[in-house]
Amino acid sequence: MKLKDKTVAELMTERHSAKLFQKGFKIEQDILDSIVEAIRMSPSSYGMMNQRVIVLVDGEFKESLNPIFFGAPNHLTASAQILIITDKADKLKNETMPLTINAKFEGKPEELKAKYFESFAKIWDAKFGAPNDMNHANFWSQKQAYIALGIALVAAEQFGIDACPQEGYDRIKLEELFRSKNLLANDEEITLSILLGKIEGEEGIGYFKKVRKDKKDFVNYIK
Ligand SMILES: Cc1cc2nc3c(=O)[nH]c(=O)nc-3n(C[C@H](O)[C@H](O)[C@H](O)COP(=O)(O)O)c2cc1C
Repeated sequence: MKLKDKTVAELMTERHSAKLFQKGFKIEQDILDSIVEAIRMSPSSYGMMNQRVIVLVDGEFKESLNPIFFGAPNHLTASAQILIITDKADKLKNETMPLTINAKFEGKPEELKAKYFESFAKIWDAKFGAPNDMNHANFWSQKQAYIALGIALVAAEQFGIDACPQEGYDRIKLEELFRSKNLLANDEEITLSILLGKIEGEEGIGYFKKVRKDKKDFVNYIK
C-alpha cells in the first residue's frame, strides 16, 4: 500500500469526481479493505451504528445494474462500487439504538445506561417529531452516510484511487432488486453509491471545470 504524502486539503484540491474509469483496472484488496474500514470508523451522531456497506466488485452483477444507474459510463467502468445502506426510522429506534447504547455502556453502571436510554427516548420525539413524521428520522439516518462518503473520498485519494460519489440512480428499482435477492431488508435503504477506480484520461475528468467558492467569500475568521 503506497500512500500519498499530502495534506487532505491538497488531496481534495487535486481530486476529480471520475466521469469515466479505466475499464479492467484492479484495486488491490487491502486498499479496498482500508477504504471500507475508513467508512466503518466514520463518526456518526450519537455514535449510532446505523450503516453498513455492500461492495460490488466490477463484474456481471455490477454491470447488470447499469440501467438502474441511468447507463452512467462511470458506473459501467468503475472497478468497484460501494453502496452505503442506512437504517430506516423503525429499525433505528427499535433495534439499532438499543444495540448501540448497550455496546457503548458495556462494563459501565446499569443505572447510567438506563438514564441515557430515557434521555435518548425524549430526544427522539422532540428531534424528529415522531411519531407523526418518521421522515425526519430517515433523513437523519441518511445524513450519517454523507459523513462516511466524505471520509471514503479522502481515504481513496490517499491511495491514489479515484472516486465518484453517486446519488444518480433509480432508488426504488435498486432497492426492489436488492430486496428480492435478500441483500436489503425492508427497514433499510440504499442511501449512496461510491464508485472507485482509476480515472480514464481527460475524458474521465469530465467536461466541467472544477469550481469552488473564492476563499474570500467562503471563510470569515473573527477574533
Ligand atoms: C452527494 C453527491 C452526489 C453525487 N452524485 C453524482 C452522480 O450521481 N453522478 C456523477 O457523475 N457525479 C455525482 N457527483 C459528483 C459531483 O458532480 C461532483 O462532485 C461535483 O461536480 C464537483 O466536482 P469534483 O468532485 O470533481 O470537484 C456527486 C457528488 C456528491 C457530493
